[in-house]
Amino acid sequence: MTTLLPSLRSLLCAAVLATPLLAAGQAKPTAKAISPDLFGIFFEDINYAADGGLYGELVQNRSFEYTPSDHGGWHPLTSWDYLHEGYAMGSVSVESAAPLHANNPHYVQLRVENPLQKGLGLKNAGFDGIALKAGEKYDFSLWARVKSGAAVPLLVQLRDKKDKVLAETTLPVQTANWQQYHATFTPTVADPEASLVVLVTGKGVVDLDMVSLFPQKTFHNRPNGLRADLAQVIGDLKPKFVRFPGGCLAHGDGLDNLYDWKKTVGPVEQRVAQRNIWNYHQTAGLGYFEYFQFCEDIGAKPLPVVAAGVSCQNSGGTWKIGGTGQQCVPLADMAAYTQDVLDLVEYANGPATSTWGAKRAAAGHPAPFNLEYVGIGNEDKITPEFEERFKMIYAAVHAKYPKMQVIGTVGPSPKGEDYDKGWALASQLNVPLVDEHYYEKPKWFLTNNRRYDTYDRKRPKVYLGEYASWGNTLFNAVAEAAYMTSLERNGDVVRLASYAPLLAKEGHTQWNPDLIYFNNSTVVPTVNYYVQQLFGQNQGTEYVAGVVAPPAGAVADTTVAASCVRDAKTGDVILKLVNASATAQPFQVDLSGLKGLNLAATRTIFTGDKDAKNTFASPRTVMPKTAAYKVKSHFAYEAQPYSLTVIRLRGKR
Ligand code: AHR
Repeated sequence: MTTLLPSLRSLLCAAVLATPLLAAGQAKPTAKAISPDLFGIFFEDINYAADGGLYGELVQNRSFEYTPSDHGGWHPLTSWDYLHEGYAMGSVSVESAAPLHANNPHYVQLRVENPLQKGLGLKNAGFDGIALKAGEKYDFSLWARVKSGAAVPLLVQLRDKKDKVLAETTLPVQTANWQQYHATFTPTVADPEASLVVLVTGKGVVDLDMVSLFPQKTFHNRPNGLRADLAQVIGDLKPKFVRFPGGCLAHGDGLDNLYDWKKTVGPVEQRVAQRNIWNYHQTAGLGYFEYFQFCEDIGAKPLPVVAAGVSCQNSGGTWKIGGTGQQCVPLADMAAYTQDVLDLVEYANGPATSTWGAKRAAAGHPAPFNLEYVGIGNEDKITPEFEERFKMIYAAVHAKYPKMQVIGTVGPSPKGEDYDKGWALASQLNVPLVDEHYYEKPKWFLTNNRRYDTYDRKRPKVYLGEYASWGNTLFNAVAEAAYMTSLERNGDVVRLASYAPLLAKEGHTQWNPDLIYFNNSTVVPTVNYYVQQLFGQNQGTEYVAGVVAPPAGAVADTTVAASCVRDAKTGDVILKLVNASATAQPFQVDLSGLKGLNLAATRTIFTGDKDAKNTFASPRTVMPKTAAYKVKSHFAYEAQPYSLTVIRLRGKR
């Protein structure tokens, strides 16, 4: 008996601590624990999200690896112009004998017979130009070797749109073996469409590869880092997790296009570039190390998704006939494929003395990245071949890493054959979570607000990995906000959710709508972004029912929605009130059952015209407005038409 007492006492304490919201004798709201990781982001290299986007590299086709299979008409010199200035005589060719690395087979050879006056070389136009900022530092590097002649002098320049030189330096290439050369530029004037020029100004033959230019100011000043302004806008969402690298990109267009994480780590010149399923090229410069590091930099958990040993069912352009293009890793190769998945976990979490942990440490991160989630498969067609391979990978991961939260897949739609079969398989195997995907009209999100209320709590939990309403108007955003209150209400079964896709570059967009649009100098957070941000910045760990009453007579859920969450760490209580209708809607709020709250709150209102949008011409037109807001323990709140209101009450600390 005496031995039981301490544990009984601690149980009682735990019970008291777990229900701090209730004040004696008052109305009793009920609290339930919800996922602490509910709202995160979905990053896919679609719409030039990585190369030409988040990845900080400013030179396009830096390693001369573009091919026509990346994109019709592309070749190793795409994005490069051949320059022979003055009366220089010589030639340029793409070569592959004795390359810098077998994974990076092509390079350029410049042969100068006579440099007459100015020299001969190449000019890179970047991704729609190179946007230079005045006074900022830019790190240039290239790999080079002399093939014939003595030291070969290079002249490296940054030029503006009209070819005026903004900054330049000389670099003598002296070695017969590949060697990396570096320089730093500080242009004194800005230019949104600059170019990089490399000229050979002396007689000789020289080989060049991996011609690179990075802003020194990358996000968190990381070498081989990310574009700072874009990364910051993403970080400002306060995501709890980052899913990467896709989407369809993860399972690829055919077996030779599966995303192979091992080919994306290590020195950049040794990574394997490949065709992007969205009809362009991926350098893998933004690879698994950089993804993990970005997660850490923004305080989000990593959530990699690997192919389930099958390619996208739309491989080979089979979109229109319902996806019969699924290709499968031969069973004889599945052991090796499965080992790659296990190695990924070791790369993220293994000690620096383990085989793959050592590679992470060599990249500069001896501490583990604390991987908790791994997705296997992306909205695959649930065929017998898929099932067989999924089972193999899942069994191996579960056996070696029983605590890993493995995420299965249930097709591309909110219902249907793959949804049913995927759910049945995951339930049979007891997979911890499944990945649901749907893109629907705003009305669908309003009328399906109760979708998860009736989900079986004993089955696998849900990762709503991809969702969006079709559009970037305020009405779309408000419909998504209404739906997100239902995700909070069901945060015991929906453990993770991410809007998709995240990024889209102007002029290179394969998929609309997206959350953030950008070009080389402007970032446009859409109205949908601000809804994601308000939910991301105001996440809770408990859902509290019985605090907000909807307007009497409002059509349940289809015009209004609300949630109340509490963050156990701070004691803060957050109310979210959504009005998706054209008229103001009065909610009733009763805080009297909650104690320990400071009634001097903050209120953020996000509203505008139903069709309002943010655009490149006017990127910050519709934005949330926050101000101090005093509440009473009972109060009426009139929500403006087409609005999301967030009221945050601080816990008394
Ligand atoms: O988010 C864009 C695409 O939509 C993803 O790549 C795919 O998973 C889904 O079909």
